[in-house]
Amino acid sequence: MIIRYAAFKLLDGLRTMMSSHSFANPLTETNRSAKIAESCILVIFGATGDLTARKLVPALYNLAREGQLPAHFACVGFARRPKNHDQFREEMLQAVNQFSRSKPVDQELWKTFREQLYYHQSEFDNDEGYESLNRFLQKLDSQMGTKGNRVFYLSIQPSYFTTVVEKLSQHHLTYPVDTVKDKWSRVIIEKPFGEDLDSARQLQQDLMQHLNENQIYRIDHYLGKETVQNLLVFRFGNPIFESVWNNHHIDNIQITVGEEIGIGTRGRFWEEAGMLRDIVQNHMMQLLSMVAMEPPTNLSANAIRDEKVKVIESIRPIPLDTMDQQVIRGQYGPGFINGEPVKGYREEDNVNPESFVETYVAMQLSIDNWRWAGVPFYLRAGKRLPKRATEIAITFKKAPGYLFEGTTSSIDSNVLVIRIQPDEGISLRINCKVPALNTVIQPVKMDFRYGSYFGAAPPEAYERLICDCMAGDNTLFARDDEVIMSWKLLTPVLEHWQETTPKDFPNYAAGTWGPEAAEEMLKRQGRHWRLI
Ligand code: BG6
Repeated sequence: MIIRYAAFKLLDGLRTMMSSHSFANPLTETNRSAKIAESCILVIFGATGDLTARKLVPALYNLAREGQLPAHFACVGFARRPKNHDQFREEMLQAVNQFSRSKPVDQELWKTFREQLYYHQSEFDNDEGYESLNRFLQKLDSQMGTKGNRVFYLSIQPSYFTTVVEKLSQHHLTYPVDTVKDKWSRVIIEKPFGEDLDSARQLQQDLMQHLNENQIYRIDHYLGKETVQNLLVFRFGNPIFESVWNNHHIDNIQITVGEEIGIGTRGRFWEEAGMLRDIVQNHMMQLLSMVAMEPPTNLSANAIRDEKVKVIESIRPIPLDTMDQQVIRGQYGPGFINGEPVKGYREEDNVNPESFVETYVAMQLSIDNWRWAGVPFYLRAGKRLPKRATEIAITFKKAPGYLFEGTTSSIDSNVLVIRIQPDEGISLRINCKVPALNTVIQPVKMDFRYGSYFGAAPPEAYERLICDCMAGDNTLFARDDEVIMSWKLLTPVLEHWQETTPKDFPNYAAGTWGPEAAEEMLKRQGRHWRLI
């Protein structure tokens, strides 16, 4: 609550700042802090899956705890396995007990909350299942006062997206926005949004047969993270940083999404996906566009998303002849994590023992616009790295340093690090005189930590995103053109990889920072990856 309030205050401050600089009045388009979740029924497709238990229902429970659920609300789990309401509720109780950020479950609250959970069994392509769902939801509307409003959350295999959306529309569970004005329907789609440019375009075309773009909420949970949202406030609410946020002052930007975990039980999925599709095309592109975007004209969803799209559009296409130097792929072999031996990727369950699927990607990108010309953006994402760390490191150009020649000083570049997770915070490395009679300079760190400053764990990304969808705010969801643009950039890499098998896989041991070639890429340019 405290953090949410603080974020709203910051956004309000930001609005004031922007309007005082004679931008268009943001409040005319949207007033995000005033948006509240409206009465509705949330239907989760794939309700017996991992995401529902780990993230979605715990998020709903925490929203209930914080008084953020609409007064009139119900959640219906839709899945293929037979189950009654009580069995579903019991399973969800276990899930909340295990995965909620607030534990143990508040028994009083649970008594009310469980009565808002229901289960509906059906195959995803069975017409009768949708007919009976419609009847059930209408009955719930009259019992719960949910006014016919619907959110459909598709936490299912992407191959079912089109079928489910088609069936929802055929059975009048979603409403055409042009003709139905007294109630609304929205569809949340989990990534991946396509697996390359063609399939993403096809998916978009299929969805648009039945839905309006404003009804589609493409979830990228990174956008729901408090630290990612703070990027906007940090950049545009602090003029001292905005004025040096360009190629005059910045030497390079590194974005790291590092994970200690391997692929776990997701071998089958991973063999189809790989790191480029799983993390780079979505989460990393979102981080990159937020760090590099121009100030939006206001804080409306479209103004912000317009600026993000422009960044992705300005990324220079990766030429085929330098692709292998500019984009490095890796796969982990056996190794050690925290002193414990772990398997290599090829030994994981449901993985081809000769697989060439990548679990690591590093790349160098250039953004061809006035602000960023000449500043390399280095991205790296990997599984089974030595630690979990997602961060954006902005390295500024070095001071000439001649003043301190002849002293035993070590003058370093200023580095601003935005720690997305864990240990959320922001630090700035500055050079400082060591207290003594002589002059010795040493880099030190100024550090802001969310945990110690605000004293509360930030809400989970899914809480924010589900709440925003129920409020009709799609700012923190990916728009179709963002998705298409990033596939346009990355599909040639996927195609190139399909034609060329890597000779050195596995090329990094679990528990190390990735393949040697990724280090080489930066060394050739006189730089190195930041030690985390
Ligand atoms: C998911 C990916 O989108 O994000 C996973 O499919 C990854 O492979 C996860 O582990 C990381 O999310 P977070 O919030 O833990 O950084």
